[in-house]
Amino acid sequence: MSDLDAIPALHRDDIESVLISSDRIEAKIAELGARMSQDYTGRDILLVAVLKGAFLVMADLARHLEVGCSVDFMAVSSYGAATSSSGVVRILKDLDTDIEGKHVVIVEDIVDSGLTLDYLVKNLRSRKPASLELMALLTKPSRREVDLPVKYVGFEIPDVFVVGYGLDYDERYRNLPCIATLKPEVYGAA
Ligand code: IMP
Ligand code: MG
Repeated sequence: MSDLDAIPALHRDDIESVLISSDRIEAKIAELGARMSQDYTGRDILLVAVLKGAFLVMADLARHLEVGCSVDFMAVSSYGAATSSSGVVRILKDLDTDIEGKHVVIVEDIVDSGLTLDYLVKNLRSRKPASLELMALLTKPSRREVDLPVKYVGFEIPDVFVVGYGLDYDERYRNLPCIATLKPEVYGAA
């Protein structure tokens, strides 16, 4: 099956190219899960997914962990343009749990400017977790505006807007099994 065949027919015509296939994503998440399991041997992890983009990464990562793990979710929103982050972060949904004394790993879909994660790290650190690390499926190093140590990174990608595997454009395409770019005309249609 080609990468494009793996994309639901409804969306196939909107795709310009497949950047990362679902097979590569699965293998990478398995690898990161194994690494994390090693690093946290004997300790439980609290995974904090940043909604909505990280919902698939979190689900797949959790199934590869061989240490105790609980999950929680935060939803944040940044004001500003549709395809770039302004750095002003609003908490739309906070954690359900108290993270004091816990080993927390924030799970993100993508680190772009890094401003969203930078804000979240500062916010969660003030709640006194025992440790706090970051995991992101994707990172765009050329776009980084703040220095952010992301311990677990899936793939470095160039400065292109991508969708799929949780990532959206105008709330669509999150269900694609791979990471892809959209044809330019799709942006005009939204
Ligand atoms: P940052 O604060 O600039 O790092 O932005 C991070 C957030 O912007 C991510 O969690 C995504 O929701 C969104 N984002 C950044 N780049 C992309 C992209 O290429 N496709 C879809 N969403 C993106
Ligand atoms: Mg996001």
